[in-house]
Amino acid sequence: MTGTSTTPHQTQLWVGVRLFDGTRTHDEPMTLVVADGRIKQMLPSSKQPAQWESDWPVAGRGGVVTPGLIDCHTHLVFGGNRAGEFEQRLEGVSYAEIAAQGGGILSTVNATRSASEDDLFASAKPRLEALIADGVTTIEIKSGYGLSLEHERKMLRVARRLGRELPVDVMTTFLGAHALPPEYKGRADDYITDVCEHMLPALAAEQLVDAVDVFCENIAFSIDQCERVFTASKQHGLPVKGHVEQLSNQHGSELCAQYQALSVDHIEWLDEAGIAAIQRSGTVATLLPGAFYTLRDTTLPPVEKLRQAGVPMAVATDANPGSSPIFQLTLMLNMACTLFRLTPTEALQGVTQNAARALGLGDTHGLLAEGHAATFCHWQADHPAELAYSVQPNRLLSRVFKGELTPL
Ligand code: NIG
Ligand code: FE
Repeated sequence: MTGTSTTPHQTQLWVGVRLFDGTRTHDEPMTLVVADGRIKQMLPSSKQPAQWESDWPVAGRGGVVTPGLIDCHTHLVFGGNRAGEFEQRLEGVSYAEIAAQGGGILSTVNATRSASEDDLFASAKPRLEALIADGVTTIEIKSGYGLSLEHERKMLRVARRLGRELPVDVMTTFLGAHALPPEYKGRADDYITDVCEHMLPALAAEQLVDAVDVFCENIAFSIDQCERVFTASKQHGLPVKGHVEQLSNQHGSELCAQYQALSVDHIEWLDEAGIAAIQRSGTVATLLPGAFYTLRDTTLPPVEKLRQAGVPMAVATDANPGSSPIFQLTLMLNMACTLFRLTPTEALQGVTQNAARALGLGDTHGLLAEGHAATFCHWQADHPAELAYSVQPNRLLSRVFKGELTPL
């Protein structure tokens, strides 16, 4: 599905729009000229030559335009669901306790291992379609529920296929070091050897891996184990990132910074040394308010300190069956403001330019400027801040992916 009633080479206009370009909202209503899949021109509508509207069709008028949204942290491909665990948590059992009892991530590992590649594709597709209908044009999808070469490969192949069959750019992340699979119980170092010497080389050779992630936590992997994974990743020329400082401070952020990580994610427990380290390495701080909300966390990520340090902040869904069963990125705009006190501009930048940087795509994605790909969303709103202010599905008037209108 790449659009049916579309004419990517024909010049089209969007006129009188309030434009958030990925970093700021323009003061004046703007006109965008789209041709050959690119933004050909961008100028204040007051300066728009009169004959343009007789020469070229107006595809949109008024409203708000933003870059296509980027969900830079998801676990979108998985088997089964964890509604039962949701109920357990309502009865007072914690996420960490459920994990210790072999539930949590491991129950999704069982369901994912029993699912076929087609099953996983069929279950992930409607979730991705929901994100697409909410304005997402680039998504990162992690493995991490297979935890063996065969099943991690299956997950990553599904992620690649989603990118081929749907109008969205998919970046894959190998998260072999997500949880210890049952067959390695008591032998975490041996599992990490398997990840580094067997799984990663094979999956990288098959072009299934764009980046490598780890879960650095006392219920997951230690600093030393994560470092082994990062060393192996660098040997394959792959960028790294980490689930760090989510439930406790393990100083995973400093390790990530040492390996020039693209991003550190969650970071509720990030301290000043961690902030200083990621500031130096230019690493993006990815905030995941959906997991904070779902797990009813009480420790807030250090947003004010990150802001003062000038660390770029991204915002993502962390869409997954356990800690964030939420498949709506615009809801994260609202949660990032309400729960974490981001400004609407920061939140919007967090799902556009900074999310692109968190994927190593800062030069090509998440920005609207002349010469850039025409990948953007046209919203029914008067001001970009409204996208964060109200929680309101179905505001997308049109979605343009590389110059093509996506049927909504
Ligand atoms: O980002 N923190 C670890 N991993 C995921 C949770 C995955 C799950 O619960 O299935 C996260 O929150
Ligand atoms: Fe995650």
